[in-house]
Amino acid sequence: MQLPQKPTPRVFSGMQPTGNLHLGNYLGAMVRWVEMQNSHECIYCVVDMHAITLWQDPGELKQAIRSVTAAYIAAGLDPDKSILFNQSQVYEHAELAWILNCVARLGWLNRMTQFKEKAGKDRENASVGLYAYPVLMAADILAYRATHVPVGEDQKQHLELCRDIAQKFNNDFSAAIRAAGFEDGTFFPLPEPVIMGPATRVMSLRDGTKKMSKSEPSDMSRINLTDDADTIARKIGRAKTDPHPLPESEAELEGRPEADNLVGIYAALADTSKAAVLAKFGGGQFSTFKAALSELAVARLAPVNAEMNRLLADPAEIDRILATGARKAQAIAAPIVTRAKDIVGFLRS
Ligand code: TYM
Repeated sequence: MQLPQKPTPRVFSGMQPTGNLHLGNYLGAMVRWVEMQNSHECIYCVVDMHAITLWQDPGELKQAIRSVTAAYIAAGLDPDKSILFNQSQVYEHAELAWILNCVARLGWLNRMTQFKEKAGKDRENASVGLYAYPVLMAADILAYRATHVPVGEDQKQHLELCRDIAQKFNNDFSAAIRAAGFEDGTFFPLPEPVIMGPATRVMSLRDGTKKMSKSEPSDMSRINLTDDADTIARKIGRAKTDPHPLPESEAELEGRPEADNLVGIYAALADTSKAAVLAKFGGGQFSTFKAALSELAVARLAPVNAEMNRLLADPAEIDRILATGARKAQAIAAPIVTRAKDIVGFLRS
């Protein structure tokens, strides 16, 4: 199959099926994904192979894959417009990851802050998969020669690594790449991170200096996509704040991480800017603002929650959607990965 010389614009992103999806995943990534599906060719993956870099209960993992898929669709991704699938059904990801493991350098991986955070103090006991995690992520993106990757701020370093790996592959194999007909010597594009909007880093409701995260022990620190209206209101009501009224300008949010976070969440949910939120609520008390924020969060998230539950009642349908998506994804990835194998020098029958 003939590949285009220049990669065509294509969006790829993914989410891990571990723990509950939360407001950070929704505002930092999914909302953007939904917007992009109307203007771009989009591929959205449930990255189950990344999930097992930390041990997962096998029964729970299956359910979590369906649950993330249901969240994708409930948030507005349309399986007829975007390709939705789970990573392990398309073996090209693993195949390309091996080749890229041989391109990436140990020194590059040693700098990855997320590995240091996740491995903690007992680094010797972390899985090799956890260490090589960002290389698999690069393979996810490059197996489709994707050009745009919408993610939250925390994935920025991984995307820089992906660009370094793509660049080194293009350099290391430049003669073979040109011989294969890619005249400018570029086989893999350097994908652009798309990190945009007022909520690229949603912080914990209990501590405005820490990221909202699935792995944080306190459930009060995050709003889950599965939370009901009362729970959402209770969590926002108890969210940490400071004793001052809300400021009138964005500059005055500096040094007030909790206020900054809540204003950013409001702005993202209302699809507006922090400045516009402060124009409305600046000078007022947190209690008034929190009541408005609760109402807005419930109005935005309750329909997503209801649709997720409706979809999860029919797991066979979700499995069918994933199988169809996997076939479509593989049709794109297979010729790219086959060509990468040729370029590296593998023989094929
Ligand atoms: P994951 O599953 O941790 O998170 C999924 C997406 O949610 C974003 N996100 C946040 N955004 C704002 N505020 C937060 N508190 C917050 N927490 C999470 C993440 O930035 C991400 O966009 N390594 C990736 C998954 C992955 C991937 C890929 C992404 C695997 N292969 C290829 C893009 C392309 C991850 O663990 O995301």
